[in-house]
Amino acid sequence: MSSYSELHRPQFHFSAKKNWINDPNGLVYHDGIWHLFFQHNTEAPTWGPMWWGHAVSNDLLHWRQLDHALHPDEMGSMFSGSAVIDHHNAAGFGKDAMLLFYTAAGNHATPPRPFVQCLAFSVDGGQTFTKYKHNPIVDWMQADNRDPKVVWDDTSQKWVMALYLEDERYCLLSSSDLKEWSRIQDIVLPGTYECPDFFPLVDEDGVNRWVFSGAGSGYLIGQFDGNKFVAETELQHYDGGPNNYAAQTWSNTPDGRRIQISWMAGGLYPEMPFNQQLSIPVELTLLGTGSDARLARRPVPELSALYCKKIEVDQKVIANGSPFSVKTDSKLLDISFKIARNTSKGLYLLIRGQYLAFDWAENTMTMTPSGTVKMVGDKPPVRIPDAPSLIVRILVDVTSVEVFLNEGEISASYCFLPGGYESAIEMHTYSGQQVVENFEMHELKSVWTE
Ligand code: FRU
Repeated sequence: MSSYSELHRPQFHFSAKKNWINDPNGLVYHDGIWHLFFQHNTEAPTWGPMWWGHAVSNDLLHWRQLDHALHPDEMGSMFSGSAVIDHHNAAGFGKDAMLLFYTAAGNHATPPRPFVQCLAFSVDGGQTFTKYKHNPIVDWMQADNRDPKVVWDDTSQKWVMALYLEDERYCLLSSSDLKEWSRIQDIVLPGTYECPDFFPLVDEDGVNRWVFSGAGSGYLIGQFDGNKFVAETELQHYDGGPNNYAAQTWSNTPDGRRIQISWMAGGLYPEMPFNQQLSIPVELTLLGTGSDARLARRPVPELSALYCKKIEVDQKVIANGSPFSVKTDSKLLDISFKIARNTSKGLYLLIRGQYLAFDWAENTMTMTPSGTVKMVGDKPPVRIPDAPSLIVRILVDVTSVEVFLNEGEISASYCFLPGGYESAIEMHTYSGQQVVENFEMHELKSVWTE
């Protein structure tokens, strides 16, 4: 049994009691409970045979890990997928059954079994799961097709499945009974692979639009009429950091909330019983409209329930040789402040020994933390808007930093291993002056010790 108090254990981010995890799967809200399933090798702290692990929460922060929900079978490992609540009993397993859609990842039997899409259901609110006896529900189409994301479409009154095919290609399928699926469209997401998500969101003009995203945070926004998705934007990225991968959003949420969680791929947790962590859950909204539409991501407001000690500084002038140091014994912080362009070339933050740099001349934000593997490949520095000022929010956990700029308009996720440091937060500028305003720092309680 884990005490969740090991040296590198995240204290307000989800990690498994032990062994390897990767993608979040089957995110669904049901009867007051947030369900989180996840790719899990229950046998080792490295990627390997995949189970669906399972955890539940009342507030998206305090998770209780349950027994795994899906185990590998003769059709292969249990790869990524999604979940819905079948309110109208379309599939015939019962009203309000919880349905899990997953990929059975095949094997090298003779003849070899390919990757296919399968269904499992629960009629006891997600306590026990039964695999559908006529699996697969979607036959092999090509390559390692995988990661079914199922969503309800109000316009066509049908269920829609987004599926990853191969290279940068995905497809959409549609169904009335969640068991028989027909392919309706192929979609290309340039430079983007695996783990589709597909969901509606209302834009700033009150118009319903659809977001189609892949694992590396690339996404398109467009119109969907139940048969065809037509992109209206260029490909954009909702996270500029090296450690955001395989994000999914919860289905069946209250109040139309669209909440996303990602795998913080690439963090290192040396000698720990567990390996990998998930991101902070974020609330998604759409800014702009039409070809200008874009996603904003904000940490869920539930986070403020973890606030304890607060440190506030109205204004601080930083100059070369006179940094701003904030001493705290806490490793769990929610920090926000405003910075405006002054005479400084940039602002350099040291967060528990890791540099985060805002460069006013280049309009970039960069962080190259120690102790991380770039699983998402090399991303260019994050562009910051060419505006007079910037609102910065930073969440710091034991081994991660998540940055949200201008109320979530820009975000970036980083994993790190701390080196030595004197102050948890230091702000430097090496040329000119930098004013920091409305500095507010909350120390956070651990979700495991409350
Ligand atoms: C993404 C991914 C998925 C696959 C799963 C296997 O990280 O490769 O495409 O279903 O992980 O664990």
